[in-house]
Amino acid sequence: MATLTTEDIDAVCGLVDELCGICWDESKAYLIESRLQKIVQQESCENYRDLVRKVRAEVAPGLKPQFIDAVTTNETLWFRDSSPFDALQFKLVPELIDSKAGTPFPKRLRIWSAACSTGQEVYSIGITLAETIPDYLNWDIQILGTDISPAAVEQASYGAYGKLEMTRGMKTDLLNKYFVEQGNQWRICDEIRSLCRFQECNLHKPFGHLGHFDVIFCRNVAIYFDDADRRSLFERAAEILAPNGWVIVGSSESLAQLGPQWHPQQHCRANCYHPNMPANNLVASR
Ligand SMILES: C[S@@+](CC[C@H](N)C(=O)[O-])C[C@H]1O[C@@H](n2cnc3c(N)ncnc32)[C@H](O)[C@@H]1O
Repeated sequence: MATLTTEDIDAVCGLVDELCGICWDESKAYLIESRLQKIVQQESCENYRDLVRKVRAEVAPGLKPQFIDAVTTNETLWFRDSSPFDALQFKLVPELIDSKAGTPFPKRLRIWSAACSTGQEVYSIGITLAETIPDYLNWDIQILGTDISPAAVEQASYGAYGKLEMTRGMKTDLLNKYFVEQGNQWRICDEIRSLCRFQECNLHKPFGHLGHFDVIFCRNVAIYFDDADRRSLFERAAEILAPNGWVIVGSSESLAQLGPQWHPQQHCRANCYHPNMPANNLVASR
């Protein structure tokens, strides 16, 4: 097997940045080997630069998606960090419902999970809405899950999970209420699945066509981007956020450095952002 040289690392990091906007450097040599070695062998590449050349040239139809699947980190779990789902249930959804009363679409809710990985975040949102709104099936609710990884989107869309995945954050009562056992997997029930849509989306490309959203979950993905890309991502997200919409990021992430409209608000211990609310500028500049 070819050993990894500095030129290989530079070539792989360049392609990872080009395709996914993910910042890798020489400190990720172990990741390059562990994630790409199999594809290097499968494609009979002379070395990692040869793999980069083949992916760029798209010598085989599935090679680029396979490369993207391999370099992305799809770590996720049910109700990750719990507090964003508490904030959704006890603060964001009740406020959104109040603000929509008297509008032409009082029962419409649009939520985007912008890097949904294998779908746990999307279905956790769906279950939270079902637990919050008793007649949720009579509402016009759409939860859009997108991710750059085709394999992750495929699993998310199918909505079935093995025993190990189900032990990571899913409570037994919710498992029994919202999942159907199929062989050695649990599949999300039709009611929750019917609220959800999935598609591939690279957050570095324009996403205005996805529509407008009341809440955008963009968690644990911008940590892989450089500062300029992170700023661009959230500024573009604010453009497709409803005037009183919310952005939620990961527990270790902060958007405060992006400007006064990104003044964090703590609700149920979750950092929530209300970037399009004029009052935010006042709060931040006081
Ligand atoms: C660590 S997971 C986070 C999943 C979920 N949001 C959570 O917090 O549990 C990061 C996800 O970001 C996706 N990702 C990485 N780069 C991306 C990009 N440029 N556009 C869209 N998704 C991307 C990965 O494929 C991966 O599924």
